[in-house]
Amino acid sequence: MKTYLITGGAGFIGSNHIIYLFKKYGDNIKIINVDCLTYAGNLENLKSVENFPNYKFYKTDICNKEEINKLFIDYDIDRVIHFAAESHVDRSIKNPEVFANTNILGTLNLLNAAKNAWETNDGFMPGKKFVQVSTDEVYGALGEEGFFYEDTPLDPRSPYSASKTSADLLVSSYVFTYKFPANITRCSNNYGPYQFPEKLIPLIINNALSGKDLPVYGDGRNVRDWLYVDDHAKAIDLVSEKAKDGEIYNVGGHNEKRNIEIIDIIIDYLLKALPDDDKRKKLISRDLIKFVEDRKGHDFRYAIAPDKIKRDLGWEPETSFAEGIIMTIDWYLKNFNWLESITKGEYMKYYEEMYKDR
Ligand code: NAD
Ligand code: DAU
Repeated sequence: MKTYLITGGAGFIGSNHIIYLFKKYGDNIKIINVDCLTYAGNLENLKSVENFPNYKFYKTDICNKEEINKLFIDYDIDRVIHFAAESHVDRSIKNPEVFANTNILGTLNLLNAAKNAWETNDGFMPGKKFVQVSTDEVYGALGEEGFFYEDTPLDPRSPYSASKTSADLLVSSYVFTYKFPANITRCSNNYGPYQFPEKLIPLIINNALSGKDLPVYGDGRNVRDWLYVDDHAKAIDLVSEKAKDGEIYNVGGHNEKRNIEIIDIIIDYLLKALPDDDKRKKLISRDLIKFVEDRKGHDFRYAIAPDKIKRDLGWEPETSFAEGIIMTIDWYLKNFNWLESITKGEYMKYYEEMYKDR
C-alpha cells in the first residue's frame, strides 16, 4: 500500500487530487493531507473522504521543520505531491513576502525532510517520488503566436511566478546534486469545482449570480489556456507513477481563450441554465461587464505544448472546455452554499481592497 503526503490538499487542486486518487485507488493507498488552512484552504472540500480510515489530515505549515520531519518519521511516505502554495498572482503583487516563505522556503523544507527520510548509504530508497506541482507562469508570457515547451527559458514576471520558479530550481538542484527522485509538472490554468472565488472563473460566476460588476482587467484580450482540474490530476498521477526521475512535464490541453470570451460563455450559460423564476436570472446581463485597470505586469498569453507528456506517458485531456465549463458552472449552481459561505467576512474585505482602486 502506497502512502501519499499531499501538501495543500485542502485547496482547489489538492482537494480535487485527493478525491481523484481515492476514486482511482480506493483502499489501496493511504493519504496524509498536510495543509495549514490559509484563506484558500477549506476542509469542506473534503467532506466526501474525511471519514475514510486511510485518510488523515494534519493542520501543519509546510515551513515547520519539526512537524514536517516528524511526519516522515511517523509514516513511511512513498509519494510527496506538493501543491501547497500561495497561488494568486494579484495577492503576490500586493504582498510578495508570504509567497517567498511558503513557495520557496516551504518547498525547501519538504525537500530536506524527504531527502533525510529517503536517503541511504546506497542512494535513495527505490520507489520514492516527489512531485513539484508547478505552473506555466514560470515561462513568462507569449505574444499571439507560439507555445511553451519544457525547454522554453524560464522568465517569470510576477512575484508569484518568481517564487514558483525558485522552488522549481531548488527541486532541479536536488535532482542534479543528490540524484533526488523528483519530477516537476508545469500546468496551465485549471478550472473546476472548489476553486476559490478570487480566480477568474469562480469570481465571475459568483459576481454574476449576485448582480455585481464583472471586472475585466485591461481590454480582456489576454489569453489563458484552460484545463479541467481532473485532467491535471490524471497527469500528475501518471508522472508520479511512470516518469523517469528528473523529467519535467508541461500539462495543458490546447484550450486557449481570451478572458472576455470566458465571461461571455459564463453569462450565456447562466442565462440558459437558471429557470425563469430564479430571482438571480434578472440580475445577469452583459451590462455587468466592467473594464477595469489592468493587472500590473499582466502576462499577455499562456499556451502549453503538451507534446512531451503525450509522447512519453500517453496523457491526453479527457474533458473539452465546452463540457468542462458547463460541469463547472453547474457545480457552482448546485453548491451555491459553498460559494456563499466563503464569500462572507474576510473575502468581502479582500474584494473591497483588491478592486477598490480599479
Ligand atoms: P489554492 O490557493 O487553492 O490552494 C493552496 C493550498 O495550500 C490551500 O489549501 C492553503 O491552505 C495551502 N497552503 C498555503 N500555504 C501553506 C503553508 N505554508 N503550509 C501548508 N499549506 C499551505 O491553490 P491551487 O489553485 O489549488 O494550486 C495548487 C498548486 O498548483 C500550487 O502550487 C499552484 O502553484 C499550482 N498550480 C495552480 C494552477 C491553477 O490554475 N490554479 C495551475 C498550475 C499550477
Ligand atoms: O497559468 C497557471 C496559473 O493560473 C496558476 O499558476 C495560478 O496559481 C492561477 O491563479 C492562474 O493564474 P492567472 O493569473 O492566470 O489566473 P486568474 O484567475 O487570477 O486570472 C486569469 C485571467 O483573468 C488573467 O488574465 C487575469 C484576468 N482577470 C482575473 C481576475 C481575478 C480579470 O480580468 N479579472 C479578474 O477579476
